[in-house]
Amino acid sequence: MSLVDLILKKRDGNELTDGEIGDFVRAVKDKTMADYQISAMLMAIYFRGMSPREIATFTREMALSGETLTFPSIKDPIVDKHSSGGVGDKTSLVISPIVAACGLPIAKLSGRGLGFTGGTIDKLESIPGFRTELTSEEFTHFVEKDGIAIMGQSASIAPVDKLLYALRDVTGTVDSIPLIAGSIMSKKLADGSDAIVLDVKYGSGAFMKTTDQAVELAKVMVGIGEDNGKNTMALVTNMDQPLGSAVGNNLEVMEAVEALHGQGPEDFLLECRAIASAMLELGGKSEEPDEAEKMVREVIDSGAAFEKFKTMVKNQGGDVSFVEDPSLFPQASFVLEGHSEKGGYIAAINTEEIGKASLLLGAGRVRLEDQIDPSVGIRVFKKIGDRVREGDLLFTVHANDRTRGEAGLKKALQAYEIADHPVKGVDHPVFCRVKRQGGEEVEERVL
Ligand code: URA
Repeated sequence: MSLVDLILKKRDGNELTDGEIGDFVRAVKDKTMADYQISAMLMAIYFRGMSPREIATFTREMALSGETLTFPSIKDPIVDKHSSGGVGDKTSLVISPIVAACGLPIAKLSGRGLGFTGGTIDKLESIPGFRTELTSEEFTHFVEKDGIAIMGQSASIAPVDKLLYALRDVTGTVDSIPLIAGSIMSKKLADGSDAIVLDVKYGSGAFMKTTDQAVELAKVMVGIGEDNGKNTMALVTNMDQPLGSAVGNNLEVMEAVEALHGQGPEDFLLECRAIASAMLELGGKSEEPDEAEKMVREVIDSGAAFEKFKTMVKNQGGDVSFVEDPSLFPQASFVLEGHSEKGGYIAAINTEEIGKASLLLGAGRVRLEDQIDPSVGIRVFKKIGDRVREGDLLFTVHANDRTRGEAGLKKALQAYEIADHPVKGVDHPVFCRVKRQGGEEVEERVL
């Protein structure tokens, strides 16, 4: 079948055969399919969806489009973690050293920002010198020696996802269950991990806006992981407000360093502890959630988690003095304040708009070739349920260009909704866990 016929078949709502999905993935890899044709196919998938069989085949074909990593000399299971994308989500920077300090190796492939969400790789690169492009040999060496390494998706691992990811970002085809599931799980099938904890986000700052959509995405991804022999669990977590306070690359690294010292915003610490504990459970380091949580707290309190973070920074060429003394990070030239225009209670924060405000400042990319400004972003001080008086400080905007700063300030102010009556805050960022039990994906409520 020709490439155009494949697009037409999906556009008209028909299921593609395994062979046709293989042809599509190969055509992307071999560059025999033009970007405009790939974009048309992505849009057809966006609107028509994919059956579970199509998603499973698409994911496997993307995983097989490149190299598959293995770590034969590592005896402990390698537990990976991946987020479906959020605003202010710097959890990987904190969770990875915590879990490594508890004795479970971390070999993590992370992404750059996608759409209005930030990416771990862009955040790590705000540490001067930090290298996120490692060879497979270097990556393996660091994991074997120190139990921790985080690198960007190399061209050799799930290369088709890398091409599709970049196109999705600029063609309005990010928030699709088959495309997100295929993207995340293809990398997980190829990265040598034995078990996976997925952080699937829902809310105004996530690609999945409702808990139902997020639980559906979580079930699809857990199913793919389990069918491919990887013990997989998902935590469905709240993204109706930025996680923690900082949004923007070096601001987020500074907040992550605070969290590694056991300090900083409680919602962020709670989520880091919950995900790290789930990883320790899956990796067989503890049977009970309480015991796992105790281990997590111990490595934070003893400083062992921060030491692991420093080891990773040093191994990967980063200047450790910046994480030892975060005041060394370059600061943005302008700090503009966003004040509440009236008294009341914070009823909602349109978190996607906060993400877009930070893109306006230069914290992310609007075009593929854009350079990131590591020091710009937003610090949020009031969250849902908080009481405010007229004139109270809601957030600060950190900008290197006054005009962009003012545009970001305006956008972020519009994201806040203030009610006259008391509003319930978010008690716990984790909504539920999704696991396979008795051959089926089931959700266990946390709240
Ligand atoms: N993270 C990914 O790796 N891919 C997506 O599609 C979304 C988040």
